[in-house]
Amino acid sequence: AMLLALTAVAAYLLGAVPFGLVMARLFGLGDLRKIGSGNIGATNVLRTGNKLAAFLTLVLDAGKGAIAVLTAKAAFGPDAAQIAGVAAFLGHCFPVYLGFRGGKGVATFLGTLLALSLPVGLAACGCWLVSAALTRYSSLSALVAAALSPVIAIFLGHEDMSLALGVLALLIFYRHAENIERLRRGRETKIGRK
Ligand code: G3P
Repeated sequence: AMLLALTAVAAYLLGAVPFGLVMARLFGLGDLRKIGSGNIGATNVLRTGNKLAAFLTLVLDAGKGAIAVLTAKAAFGPDAAQIAGVAAFLGHCFPVYLGFRGGKGVATFLGTLLALSLPVGLAACGCWLVSAALTRYSSLSALVAAALSPVIAIFLGHEDMSLALGVLALLIFYRHAENIERLRRGRETKIGRK
């Protein structure tokens, strides 16, 4: 139990690293929190027009979730892997380094999911991509992928993941409250637009 708690704390601290802010700083793009939606994620980095910085943010924010899960899985098995994934996600959304004001968790969620189960993760990424291709809304696509992920898990024989995914999906909806309001008003920004 002690080791599990330490794993969760380590995963949280890794998840809390805000790669979007780091990339924006490295690429000289300014403070991401004063740009676009003010969010620290890849979608908002893209609003600066720097596709490489946005891509690196996506990969690194997803990668930190995946690494947390894979490390915990190798060390302590599948239950610890789920705990580490949730902890990394919470780190991204509520990072201690930023006064607990973090991101919306989408990339970290997808990276975590890919590491927990590659088929489930790929299916969720596929939902995001199809929705993004059809609607051009990053936030809406995240909501679609998050909402479908527990169902996808069950269909692919991963009932054991559905509870954790349900919790993460609820958190993703909660973190997208402003986006949902903008979508309802028809005021949400499309991918790549300022
Ligand atoms: O990944 C977060 C995305 O779903 C929404 O980001 O910047 O449009 O609020 P943003």
